[in-house]
Amino acid sequence: MRLDIFAVTAVLVGVVGAAPATQQPRTTAIRSTTSTSSTTLSTSSSTTSTTSSMTTSTTSTSSTTSSTSTSTSTSIVAAAAAVAPSCASYWLEQITHQGTSAFNPDKSYKTFRNVKDFGAKGDGVTDDTAAINNAISSGSRCGPGCASTSTTPAIVYFPAGTYLISSSIIDYYYTQLIGNPNCPPVLKATPGLTGFGVIDGNQYQAGGSLAWESINVFWRQIRNFVIDMTAIPPGTGATGIHWPTAQATSLQNIVFKMSDAPGTQHVGLFIESGSGGMINDLVFYGGLKAASVGNQQFTMRNITINNAVTAIDQLWDWGWTYKSININNCTTGINIAAGGTSAQAVGSIVLFDSSITNTHVGISTAHTISQTTTSGTMILENVSLNNVPIAVQGPSSTLLAGTAGTTTIAAWGQGHSYTPSGPTNFQGPLTAFTRPASLLKSGAYFERSKPQYESLALSRFRSARATGAKGDGVTDDTAALQNTITTATQQGQVAFIDAGTYRVTNTINIPPGAKVVGEGYAVIMSSGSLFANQANPRPVVKVGAAGQQGQVEWSDMIVSTQGAQAGAILIQWNLASPSTAPSGMWDVHTRVGGFAGSNLRASNCPITPGTTITSANLKQSCIAAFMMMHISPSGTGIYLENVWLWTADHDVDDPSIAQITIYTGRGLHVESASGNIWLVGTGVEHATLYQYQFATTKSIFMGQIQSETPYYQPNPTALLPFKYNATWRDPNFAVKCAGKSGNCAAAWGLRVVDSADVLGYGAGIYSFFNNWSTACSQSGAGGCQNSIVSIEGARVRNVGLYGLNTIGSISMIDRDGASLAKAADNRDGFSETVAIFRSG
Ligand SMILES: *[C@@H]1O[C@H](CO)[C@@H](O)[C@H](O)[C@H]1NC(C)=O
Ligand SMILES: *[C@@H]1O[C@H](CO)[C@@H](O)[C@H](O)[C@H]1NC(C)=O
Ligand SMILES: *[C@@H]1O[C@H](CO)[C@@H](O)[C@H](O)[C@H]1NC(C)=O
Ligand SMILES: *[C@@H]1O[C@H](CO)[C@@H](O)[C@H](O)[C@H]1NC(C)=O
Ligand SMILES: *[C@@H]1O[C@H](CO)[C@@H](O)[C@H](O)[C@H]1NC(C)=O
Repeated sequence: MRLDIFAVTAVLVGVVGAAPATQQPRTTAIRSTTSTSSTTLSTSSSTTSTTSSMTTSTTSTSSTTSSTSTSTSTSIVAAAAAVAPSCASYWLEQITHQGTSAFNPDKSYKTFRNVKDFGAKGDGVTDDTAAINNAISSGSRCGPGCASTSTTPAIVYFPAGTYLISSSIIDYYYTQLIGNPNCPPVLKATPGLTGFGVIDGNQYQAGGSLAWESINVFWRQIRNFVIDMTAIPPGTGATGIHWPTAQATSLQNIVFKMSDAPGTQHVGLFIESGSGGMINDLVFYGGLKAASVGNQQFTMRNITINNAVTAIDQLWDWGWTYKSININNCTTGINIAAGGTSAQAVGSIVLFDSSITNTHVGISTAHTISQTTTSGTMILENVSLNNVPIAVQGPSSTLLAGTAGTTTIAAWGQGHSYTPSGPTNFQGPLTAFTRPASLLKSGAYFERSKPQYESLALSRFRSARATGAKGDGVTDDTAALQNTITTATQQGQVAFIDAGTYRVTNTINIPPGAKVVGEGYAVIMSSGSLFANQANPRPVVKVGAAGQQGQVEWSDMIVSTQGAQAGAILIQWNLASPSTAPSGMWDVHTRVGGFAGSNLRASNCPITPGTTITSANLKQSCIAAFMMMHISPSGTGIYLENVWLWTADHDVDDPSIAQITIYTGRGLHVESASGNIWLVGTGVEHATLYQYQFATTKSIFMGQIQSETPYYQPNPTALLPFKYNATWRDPNFAVKCAGKSGNCAAAWGLRVVDSADVLGYGAGIYSFFNNWSTACSQSGAGGCQNSIVSIEGARVRNVGLYGLNTIGSISMIDRDGASLAKAADNRDGFSETVAIFRSG
């Protein structure tokens, strides 16, 4: 998740004029692209022109609109006040709030804040900006100027109402902004809104850098809002949400209302950098660009865009997964032509199960069949067109004709294919992946958003703290927490895990039928001898037992370990759910080390690049987990969305965010016999042996997956500190690497063994470091490891990847130990890209 050299703050800093040097070609491309815009991003917040992002060139219009502004303001306010909808109340508003932060020295720290308790009126008339910003900042939280911290989580809750916003709502670190889903609150921008965004998720500071390095912004959400920008004059550049963020972040259920008048300069969602993340259930109306987005990777699902000039403007990326995108009545659907043919800024996109209607150009690209790189790789699968005259527009000609009527693009693409041999440079139709029927609903891949239980009465929730658990990070909460979950499930209640850290010394069992929801990412943290033996690993949280059937829903929590826990399997899934009603995990993450209370911090587990690490000097106290998540042979029917399995590479509670060395054996190990598993917007980082492993399983949907190799390897290599264990289907690096040179014993990013129907729609598999140095991943360097994706075994069938991006590996894909796709054949700016791999 974090890699300083790619801090793309240069994108905007360049505009202000102080761009640091960067070795990242894609960054350079963006900077040059954006800096051609005539607007400057002023760091002063005193002028309206601050809101003109560099994507627009309209500063001059702001001074001409003041008279319009006043009259618009009056009529809008009157309209808003007249509409006072009556809305069902929401349990999250009503429940007793006892959440705290176990490792915050302030024992009275409060996680939950209702903006009305801070004076916000939500009456459509009162300017609520200051009250809302107070609700966010109160309690010595981590605002701009604070590098990061795990100790000040907050839920900032908005009851139904219309909140007048005159300058940006400044979001803080580790914050969830949540509206009443029964009646999403309206954030109504005043005509003269100042700041960069109605909500600014990462505010530019004086000097031109973001408040937080965007690749470092974790654990935050915005959900259930209407962002209404229609009072802002159309010609004034204005932004709805500014969201340069990284893993474990989500935007959900947000409507953006913008002007669709000719010349509109409104932008709904703006992302210029970071390493995301999940975005789903957004609806946009109007705007010059509904979404203007650049980031290493993101998954966007269930997005509807109406009446924008350009629906999605892709500033740059390595990979992007677009699923269930519906574009209506725009001029251009998705523009990936940024940078033009000579400096393409977009690495790749995968668009599927989507529709484009009444739009002149579906997709605009700068990619040409004759180019030497793979930049601008595109895959379309099951994209329906209705009155789209040009489906794909190239730099000088139509590449795929559209229709005045209706048609469906079964599959089409541009880039390099390996089916399974290659590369073949192609442009045109291709054979779509063969989708297992069990993963589909009405032909499209199944999808389900995080449940928010908006129709349940308060009596249907059972609080962990109200029923005896402490969550103070010290008390052994094993029995109390188990009792809350078991009793809630028996009584048909949702187990509500109040914010805090629940230390457990034995396994917590989540039974069939359970619904578990955390407040402010409540943490379950294992500790003690039961989890310390790598020869006898134990689950910290166990979902169902082998042979059990039913459904479980789990959201908004973190599972962690404390101290040496070489035998901890953080999450183990054994439950069988039908593929038609799968279980789900949404915004549930693992965090191994690197936070206050973990005893696995910069002071405990510092990096030691100058010391050659051997079994004799390796710090046993920093062996923090056996495996982050295990889906056992009996586990089946599981939907994961926005799940980030992270072993920390740095200490988020250290003021200098110092790097650390933490050892976790394995990332996500799937050995489900029946499969039917959806991995939607997931990431797995820094485990020793592999990040994603699929062994003798089947029917897996993935998109987007993202992984990183541990930064310490090869000091030590993947041979330390975990013993090879065939029972766990471990890769045997001692055998694989005997007699091999280079960095052979390095973690796999993705390993698929004897599995069938494993289909990926976007994958970013990265290796940035060797022995804590990024020299190996620089352009022209040999690479950080020999190989990173492995497809193994005679029983592999129908394994496919669209939009595979790798960084730092000499071989992109190995088949049974031999390199199939080489980085050198698929260069794409900083990453390497294969448009399609098919195992045969
Ligand atoms: C898609 O988003 C819309 C709008 O938020 C929502 O009503 C709908 O339930 C979502 N559909 C799915 C399948 O998530
Ligand atoms: C299409 O968009 C334009 C503005 O972009 C708007 O005026 C028109 O009403 C829209 N048509 C429909 C059918 O929504
Ligand atoms: C394509 O996706 C649509 C949803 O956009 C779905 O209804 C349809 O069944 C899918 N068709 C195929 C052939 O996959
Ligand atoms: C291998 O894993 C099994 C199952 O967890 C365990 O019983 C055994 O002790 C492990 N072997 C070693 C050498 O760690
Ligand atoms: C790791 O890098 C340091 C320099 O930062 C070097 O002194 C050391 O020899 C390297 N160790 C290994 C095992 O590569």
